[in-house]
Amino acid sequence: MNIAIDGPAGAGKSTVAQLTAKHLGYTYIDTGAMYRALTLAALHEGVSLSDEEELASLLDRISIGLQQQASGQRVFLNNRDVTEEIRHPDVSRQVSLVAKHPKVREKMMVLQRKLAGQESVVMDGRDIGTFVLPDAEVKVFLTASIEERAMRRYKEMLEKGHDANLADLQLEIQLRDKTDSDREVAPLRCAEDATILDSTGMTIEQVVSRIIELCKN
Ligand code: C5P
Repeated sequence: MNIAIDGPAGAGKSTVAQLTAKHLGYTYIDTGAMYRALTLAALHEGVSLSDEEELASLLDRISIGLQQQASGQRVFLNNRDVTEEIRHPDVSRQVSLVAKHPKVREKMMVLQRKLAGQESVVMDGRDIGTFVLPDAEVKVFLTASIEERAMRRYKEMLEKGHDANLADLQLEIQLRDKTDSDREVAPLRCAEDATILDSTGMTIEQVVSRIIELCKN
């Protein structure tokens, strides 16, 4: 059984998906981390983020690994742990520019389907229920008010000891959602057969329980 969790930035998808996977004994796959790893590689190698061909060829040359550890998922780029680096504001600000290229998405989809082909997965992203795993047994579109999403990100940044500005974070999230929703290929959309879950005012545990309930139906 596969579970697809999509939704806008900062809705808590990865936390919820990770806990759901743990509860069910499934593999968690964070597709946003894959786009982030490619963006980081492009920034390191000086590849223009508007060069679709170069980005697609870069994706062929790099290896992206996801590894589940007791502390959570770790992300590897060419076997180097980049879990923290891919969350850097420079990557967050630019990842949508990389993700909008059709050739990049096509290759990512192949990689993601391969990962899902091996076992039961909880996969989170923007196009999982609509394109990557259209046959997923459970589809959730997880959202929350923009204010709450920005506030969650803000607290997360402070907890990690980073400087953060709430208004800037809110703007960045809105801009990223707009780029993700406006792109021509696989835009951010709720699948027709997805359950919409608005997590505003809900605890993480409540959201996870709700998803597990959906799996029983
Ligand atoms: O999930 P996260 O916020 O880490 O995703 C980062 C970015 O990666 C998104 O804003 C989007 O541009 C891209 N993405 C995507 N399709 C996915 C997952 C992420 O386009 N399935």
